[in-house]
Amino acid sequence: MPLHRWVWADAQRRARKLLRFAETEADGGRHLSRAAELTRDASLRRLYLRHAEDEMRHAELFRRRGRELLASRGRVFEANWLAPGERGLDDLEVGSESDESLLAFLHLSEKAAAGRFAVYRDVLGGDPQTRAMFARILEDEEFHMSYTRKQLARLAPRRQGLRLWTARAARLWRTYLRVATALAAVLGTLMLALQYFLLLPPFALLAKRAARREPEGFSRARAAPPLKSQY
Ligand SMILES: [Fe+2]
Ligand SMILES: [Fe+2]
Repeated sequence: MPLHRWVWADAQRRARKLLRFAETEADGGRHLSRAAELTRDASLRRLYLRHAEDEMRHAELFRRRGRELLASRGRVFEANWLAPGERGLDDLEVGSESDESLLAFLHLSEKAAAGRFAVYRDVLGGDPQTRAMFARILEDEEFHMSYTRKQLARLAPRRQGLRLWTARAARLWRTYLRVATALAAVLGTLMLALQYFLLLPPFALLAKRAARREPEGFSRARAAPPLKSQY
């Protein structure tokens, strides 16, 4: 909580994060429209379409609020790995999933999103407008969370546990990859900095020493080569 409070305390960072969330939501909305096109189940199609509309509306809300907050430009540390938005929906591969596994995956993503948005709402005491926006969006996320669970139970009454388990494993794997990539980037920067501070000084020293050994003043240039041949 204190970490989230810190992440959200700065208005600039808050604005950047909301704009980033807007992209994630819009991505999710596009994937869900695609899912609606692909499914053969009429009631799922209706639900996916409504879901897609919700995500598009969230994108719009986040974008608007982000722009409002963004008073001046500047680079800020976004800490995205600390407070991601409705993550998961953005890297959904709709075409390759069955309705069952898609629902399981959606359910878990929405559940995680609902949990995170509830935290963000709670720490945003200093910004009532953004807090109200999260509260409104949270209602939709809770609906997404419950309809996906119910539909999964309808389509796969016996395999629902397995589907959820598989989806959870896939999400864990993706999280691991994300953390590993982020860590690799941090370590890479650290290694470069270390090399800079550890390897550079001896060379600088050597260069200084070499410079001291050079005679001062002008020294005679090498004799010019004869100009008779082209070499
Ligand atoms: Fe959303
Ligand atoms: Fe959602």
